[in-house]
Amino acid sequence: MSQLELLDVSKHYKSGSELVRAVDSVSLTLSAGELVGLYGPSGSGKTTLLLLGAGLLTPDSGRILFDSRDIGRMGNRQRARYRLREVGFVTQSFHLMPRASALDNALIKLPAAGLTLQQARARTTGWLERVGLGARIDYPVERLSMGERQRVAIARALVNEPHLLLADEPTGNLDSSRTREILGLVRDICHERSVPGLLVTHDPEAMSFVDRVYTLRDGRLSDGLHAELAATPS
Ligand SMILES: Nc1ncnc2c1ncn2[C@@H]1O[C@H](COP(=O)(O)OP(=O)(O)OP(=O)(O)O)[C@@H](O)[C@H]1O
Ligand SMILES: [Mg+2]
Repeated sequence: MSQLELLDVSKHYKSGSELVRAVDSVSLTLSAGELVGLYGPSGSGKTTLLLLGAGLLTPDSGRILFDSRDIGRMGNRQRARYRLREVGFVTQSFHLMPRASALDNALIKLPAAGLTLQQARARTTGWLERVGLGARIDYPVERLSMGERQRVAIARALVNEPHLLLADEPTGNLDSSRTREILGLVRDICHERSVPGLLVTHDPEAMSFVDRVYTLRDGRLSDGLHAELAATPS
């Protein structure tokens, strides 16, 4: 049963003479099978928090445990393996290769994760179909719409069948019926596969898909949705 625990975690950036408390003494547990919503205004530390959970940043203080393993104390190889095999991360900017097809973009992690190219292609095709891109599998990404690119990025985060799902505004470019479809997919994956999920969003519609909600403001986490913050676009 997967679980992510952040124990009194802080991450501060120095920008000139200014100290930015991007994440400030945050404690949070994501249990197996629950999807947690994270709201907060632009610059409140949401992406930083996800990067910490993904092992892409190390905290200045505090501990981050995935299944009781301390991510901060992992060696480079172990941390790379954690990111590759256990984490599904839908990043805020998609980082797709424009000339490569939707399929090649979405399967990029799989050969490194131990699948043959043929297995990787079959599995990735299935996920691209599930996010509604069955007719665009061989299209170069540069010819896809922004919403379609977003869905490639979502498929890429899911193909390794992660044990932890981190999604940074995964529906920012989608219309409301696609948004509901993708949020439903993310929720179902968390529930059916007992995967903990953290979903950064500004979309009030996401409220009905998540199991609980936190608000981040100036790096500090509080329970519940602070309505005035939810409406702030990033
Ligand atoms: N590498 C960095 N160096 C200095 N400051 C940084 C760095 N990365 C982020 N910050 C600052 O940390 C704060 C939190 O940034 P973060 O990207 O986590 O915010 P966010 O909540 O994801 O915002 P948005 O909704 O706009 O995506 C911001 O004030 C940002 O300027
Ligand atoms: Mg962000």
